Amino acid sequence: MEEKRYLTFALGKGRLAKKTLQLFEKIGITCEEIKDPDTRKLIFVNEELRLRFFLAKGPDVPTYVEYGAADIGIVGKDTILEEGRNIYEVLDLGFGKCRMCICGPESARDLLQHHEQIRVATKYPHIAKDYFYNKKHQTVEIIKLNGSIELAPIVGLSEVICDIVETGTTLRENGLTVLEEVCPLSARVVVNQVSMKMENERITQLIRDLKTVI
Ligand code: PRP
Repeated sequence: MEEKRYLTFALGKGRLAKKTLQLFEKIGITCEEIKDPDTRKLIFVNEELRLRFFLAKGPDVPTYVEYGAADIGIVGKDTILEEGRNIYEVLDLGFGKCRMCICGPESARDLLQHHEQIRVATKYPHIAKDYFYNKKHQTVEIIKLNGSIELAPIVGLSEVICDIVETGTTLRENGLTVLEEVCPLSARVVVNQVSMKMENERITQLIRDLKTVI
């Protein structure tokens, strides 16, 4: 009999990958070599289950999945929204919970309410644009940054930021606050559209199994 083809998983590097692997272990999917913190290997195989895993930068996960280089991806909802790829989002894993928010000093609340032309610094220009242009019908200037977004209103680069808030500690320690909530976020399972058809049985079984442990 012909061997089953490998199902390939793209995992977003970091906290998300660690939690994902813990969840997979609960449903009998293990991959010992991926857990070695010193390894420089990029791809890991579970021969027995015909599964392959690789770690990628979060924003690249939807890209691998859209092109079919990975059948399945585990990635934050923020990244899914920002990247806007043609992929199926099939399951909310319920961890990595946080919120996408518009934040700034309390003094920026008025500017937001009166639809002033403000500057919004963010790592998520598409999410910010969608929120201000399509939902709020407010014209703003979006400034793309790559990290430490909270700095922007402090040093006068922007009036507000559009960023992830988890515990709220970063905001608090920098004299900033949540002004508006854009949407809730968490880790999601995404699937390539062709894989969903060709490997439907294996993938739906995996989703069923995951649902029993989340
Ligand atoms: C994220 C986010 C906030 C912070 C929120 O940054 O951009 O800065 O975490 O968490 P908190 O509400 O628990 O304080 P991350 O650590 O990913 O680094 P970054 O500055 O590179 O975005």
